[in-house]
Amino acid sequence: MPIHLTRRAFPSPTALHMSDPLSSAIIRGSVAPRDLVARVATDPWIHGWWHRPAVPLERWNAYADAVAKQRVRGAQFAEVDDALAAWRADALERATLGVAVGRLEVVVPPSPVLPRVDDLIEEDAPPPRVGDDGVAAMTATVQRAVANAHADGIPYLVADVDARAIEQIWALERAGFSLIDGTLTFGRRITATDATVDAPPSGGLVIRDARADDADAAATIATIAWDRYHADPMLPSAGADALNRAAVANAVQRRGADVAWIVEDGDGVLGFTAGVVDPLLRDVLGRPTLTITVAVTAARARRRGVGRALALHAIHWAAREGLATVEVGAQLRNIVAARTFESAGFRLLASRVTLRSWRESVA
Ligand SMILES: CC(C)(COP(=O)(O)OP(=O)(O)OC[C@H]1O[C@@H](n2cnc3c(N)ncnc32)[C@H](O)[C@@H]1OP(=O)(O)O)[C@@H](O)C(=O)NCCC(=O)NCCS
Repeated sequence: MPIHLTRRAFPSPTALHMSDPLSSAIIRGSVAPRDLVARVATDPWIHGWWHRPAVPLERWNAYADAVAKQRVRGAQFAEVDDALAAWRADALERATLGVAVGRLEVVVPPSPVLPRVDDLIEEDAPPPRVGDDGVAAMTATVQRAVANAHADGIPYLVADVDARAIEQIWALERAGFSLIDGTLTFGRRITATDATVDAPPSGGLVIRDARADDADAAATIATIAWDRYHADPMLPSAGADALNRAAVANAVQRRGADVAWIVEDGDGVLGFTAGVVDPLLRDVLGRPTLTITVAVTAARARRRGVGRALALHAIHWAAREGLATVEVGAQLRNIVAARTFESAGFRLLASRVTLRSWRESVA
């Protein structure tokens, strides 16, 4: 089928600055006014949009509202021409990476051109475009958010954007962000037989709950993980290792994790996985979901079915708990991880890209 490309002209960032009337429209502050929550709740790229066809509209709206509250709590805002950006500082990342990191929580296009979430779940149609003016407004908004972050001594801002929101990506690029990584989200719907079938790994391997004293062994293998921190040459790899170690140490003590499992043989730990059950997906959306946050196997264990066994164990646990789905993110570049989850019956749900801006002089 032929692909038709249309060339579009975009205003340059300089032109945007010149016509930016908005200093007075900038919102700063750590408490979000109520209408900002409502605005963020209209973000069609909200996490979990793929659940939308499975839930009634009222439940979806309640979920979007609850997620929006979470995203704006403690955040800083910038607004230009009715486009909105919110960002917040991340304390754990600052402590481990040694760099003040801000996370751009949301970039919302101007409301007149905002796609609706129902526009996004048509399987064979690309999402509607927000258009040149929408991109210009988002660019100016992100520039403002970056300037505010810099003024607060935060040199590093990261944004994680749905890959289908291509104009948001252009706006971030024009505001000086660069692509650093990406994530594929895979999901596996729980079926009736998942609760009865557990697939223990072969060869005398054991899967058990992780304990606090597994932290070192689990962290040693988890530093191998692919992630956006290790991907970014602007971040010290020792800091990225420390961040992974901290995440694993927390997970084995069920801090920031509801489940954590170890696979071992007589010689020690071969694999580790952890996950969370998001209360909003469970209680508000009514789609109880186990999200796997870490999955890693030791180099000596690779290609022996350990990764798949951990994924199947997670599915089995989720089924016994009465959950609806298991989800997991794999880095875009990490084909082996994607294949591992495919081999456990996961299907692709969504794709996101990660961009960041960095300004040395602020550091
Ligand atoms: C991803 C990872 C957990 C897979 O663990 P593993 O124990 O080697 O995986 P398995 O042996 O269970 O492999 C499962 C399937 O994945 C695919 N796969 C695994 N390794 C592969 C490789 N090197 N090349 C191609 N396919 C591969 C295969 O389809 C395999 O099934 P098969 O052997 O029956 O063909 C492991 O490579 C790892 O720890 N990587 C680093 C950390 C990471 O990337 N974690 C995932 C982040 S979410």
